Amino acid sequence: RPPPGRAPGLLRGAPPSGKEPSDMSRTDLGTPSLDLTDPAAFVDNDVHAYWRDVRARNPVHWHEATERNPGFWVVSRYADVQPLYTDEALGSARGNVLDVVLRGDDSAGGSMVAVTDPPRHRPLRNLLFSSFTPRVLGEVVEEVGRRTDALVASVVGRGTFDFAAEIADRIPMNTICDLLSVPAADREELLRWNKKALSSVDAAYDEVDAIAARNEIVLYFMDLAQERRARPGDDVISLLAAAEVQGRPLTLEELAVNCYSLILGGDETSRVSAISGVLALIDHPDQWRALRTGEVSVESAVEEVLRWSTPSFHVARTALRDLEIAGNAVRAGDIVTLWTVSANNDETVFDEPRRFTLSRSPNKHLSFGHGPHYCLGAFLARAELRTLLTALVAQVGRMELCGSPRPIYSNFLNGYDDLPVRFEGR
Ligand code: HEM
Repeated sequence: RPPPGRAPGLLRGAPPSGKEPSDMSRTDLGTPSLDLTDPAAFVDNDVHAYWRDVRARNPVHWHEATERNPGFWVVSRYADVQPLYTDEALGSARGNVLDVVLRGDDSAGGSMVAVTDPPRHRPLRNLLFSSFTPRVLGEVVEEVGRRTDALVASVVGRGTFDFAAEIADRIPMNTICDLLSVPAADREELLRWNKKALSSVDAAYDEVDAIAARNEIVLYFMDLAQERRARPGDDVISLLAAAEVQGRPLTLEELAVNCYSLILGGDETSRVSAISGVLALIDHPDQWRALRTGEVSVESAVEEVLRWSTPSFHVARTALRDLEIAGNAVRAGDIVTLWTVSANNDETVFDEPRRFTLSRSPNKHLSFGHGPHYCLGAFLARAELRTLLTALVAQVGRMELCGSPRPIYSNFLNGYDDLPVRFEGR
């Protein structure tokens, strides 16, 4: 069973085997090569060993074009990745996920906050951010706490269950729906559409169904925005619907894609961080003990879970003008990928990065990105993990793994689809 980042053997503290995974070849320069456009590369290989090698030998390099895709730049070291997150020479409007940028363009570019560049990005982001008022956030976080406590209580002592389906799946979407005041009666349907729209490409994935489901979500939020524009409340959608960006109100479609962006940004990432966090605690009983006895704070544990799990492997950008990255000439129009999973495990910044250390300090991981697009939901995501860890400490004595979790088939989302476990009470 490979741990998050898929490094067999490393999670349990065993020494790296030193053996090259079967389909990891080497170029003449001794540089490891892995097709980073292929989700299989992330499932079948020792990803952490791969990135360690890249950081050492070829930290910034051109990923050759494949039969289906153009080439792109790969940036792996923390010292290069972190400043590039703030570099205005790199834009997000063509997409911030490699698959999307490789296909050409993000259809929401310039409308959805995550894929909008200056000058529109900042006022749009400020508007979204300012509609997360302390009152709204306070109520949402309280509800997250109640929901998480009840979910954990429902599985303790119950025998084997899937932590992903029974707990991790149920927290983030409900949190985002609370934030947007989505009526309770509509949530089941929204959840169903969202499941269909999920971006992971496995055998059961049907692209036509997925596109239809995404359209349903956008149409749903257009209707809701129209309603709230007519009859405003003091919820996030009403605030967005009443506001102006660059001197004009948002169109219904802009409102809808930005509501959807909260689901896109916050659902799967939060889910996988919770799953990877519980798995890591099971695999590291000493750390679980330290958390339970109060030897480490929940806040510090949350940061290590975020670093360890690194829910998104990378972000993608497009060069808006010529620039230089660590001595490499990057041309306007080139695709540049920043590999957070590598930066978060850079041994020049994190001491023994493949050791899960809840008390790690400092812990300046890049799991939420950095700079102008820094995660808008970071506060909520942290609150979700904090309440989960708090509920586990309060209610659970022993956690046991009861099967092999299935890795997500993706070159973007890092983690597992399921987690069969058993929790015993304190
Ligand atoms: C942006 C990760 C939870 C909403 C980002 C970015 C990352 C990220 C890496 C930067 C993307 C880029 O630079 O292109 C995560 C992780 C989460 C999480 C790891 C959970 C553990 C959430 C939640 C929400 C959310 C709960 C919503 C409530 C957003 C939005 C952006 C964003 C709207 C775009 C911000 C902008 O472009 O200015 N997130 N996120 N995220 N995230 Fe999150």
